[in-house]
Amino acid sequence: MSKYVISGGNKLYGSVKAQSAKNALLPLISACIMIEGEVTFTNSSMLGDVSIMLSIIKSLGGNYTYSNGNLKVDCTNLYSSEMPCDLTRKIRASVFMLGPLLARFKNVVTYLPGGCQIGSRPIDMHLDGFKALGVKEFNDGDALILKSKKLRGTKIKLKYASVGVTENLIMCAVLSEGETVLLNSAKEPEIVCLVKFLRLFGAKIKGEGTSTIVIEGVKKLKSKNITFMPISDRIEVGTYILSVLGTGGEIEVENANFLHNVALIKKIYNNACKIILTNDKIYIKCVGIGKSLSYTRTAPYPKFPTDLQTPLCAYATTLNGTSYVEESVFDNRFMQLKELERMGAKISVNGNVSKIEGVNELVGTAVTALDLRGGASLIIAGLKASGQTVIDNAQIIERGYLDIEKKLSLLGADIKKV
Ligand code: EPZ
Repeated sequence: MSKYVISGGNKLYGSVKAQSAKNALLPLISACIMIEGEVTFTNSSMLGDVSIMLSIIKSLGGNYTYSNGNLKVDCTNLYSSEMPCDLTRKIRASVFMLGPLLARFKNVVTYLPGGCQIGSRPIDMHLDGFKALGVKEFNDGDALILKSKKLRGTKIKLKYASVGVTENLIMCAVLSEGETVLLNSAKEPEIVCLVKFLRLFGAKIKGEGTSTIVIEGVKKLKSKNITFMPISDRIEVGTYILSVLGTGGEIEVENANFLHNVALIKKIYNNACKIILTNDKIYIKCVGIGKSLSYTRTAPYPKFPTDLQTPLCAYATTLNGTSYVEESVFDNRFMQLKELERMGAKISVNGNVSKIEGVNELVGTAVTALDLRGGASLIIAGLKASGQTVIDNAQIIERGYLDIEKKLSLLGADIKKV
């Protein structure tokens, strides 16, 4: 089990480049299942979750190579749609492969996905959507079998604007017969990125980025080799912004599309910081201790992202006054706040609202990362705490932040991985 050891108090200076979005790359890798040809994704990080997805692709007969940020995926010779149980259970994103596998093979054997323990995370909406498209579902022990004689387009109203369900159903509908209309679909930038990618192969999709997406099924996607750069990781960008606001200093985040971080920027703007936004960079300078945050409620894009909820709580621990953060997306995403309290934070949780009373300082101690973004909140707290913070279970953080200790060290933080 690797750990991060942080000696807090250093201010951050310099520039840091954001990676391609983990939550764009994972569905893009899934989409390759429907494509015969070699796809090259640039500026991509071999994150923990990415490498598990690629191992699943390999076990189905696909191939990939990775060097210097260029990930090549080729599913031309895919021959199986039987998901490997152990790998499937490791990550949530394995569920995003069901849509493309159904589109290509019309039947899939799979297992319930894994992922960060931030709530129950059922896949009922995924399965309901597939059934609407003509898929039958059977259980065989703990295996889940999905079969369809013919995928037929239809109108599907999502009971919640789920990111993964929207992505899965778009991919499945691309090769279904006729028109599919997704109502109450999610609007995340990662979905817009996926649609742009699918269009390169002849997919007929309209409305991405809105709550109504219309897909006109095609017989087959074009086989071609292309190079594609996924969008920047807006959650990684937000994490670096909250890091410098917590510990002080001034940094520039490159490969950052501020339009994808409007909710965060509106939250921190004019609160003891100076921000300069250009088309692919965000400059941010911390100018003192900010005042407490206005009430924050996480919700689907473009509202405040749930993935920045615990990092925002870590930032709020030493503001002047009391902040309230409501988690409306997942039913158990405050677990990490207990560890922040062990560093001296004053937090009380009532249902799905956390109350964070600003304290003068945090004190470093031994803590454990419980989920990917919770782990990032511990790093933010450790950077500003006095003394040494040792974060156990560092590998869970590496699932979404490649080389975070190297990137932060280059900015002046005293952080090592042991
Ligand atoms: C994606 O997960 C992201 N993961 C998550 O990021 C992110 O937090 C989430 O979207 C919300 O933005 C990837 O893209 C790989 P949802 P997803 O379906 O698609 C419930 C990170 O840290 N739900 O939008 O799984 C679900 O339980 C990760 O990078 C059902 O009830 O999220 C949750 O409460 C964490 N039934 C809510 O919907 C279903 O069938 C939103 O989940 C599906 C979801």
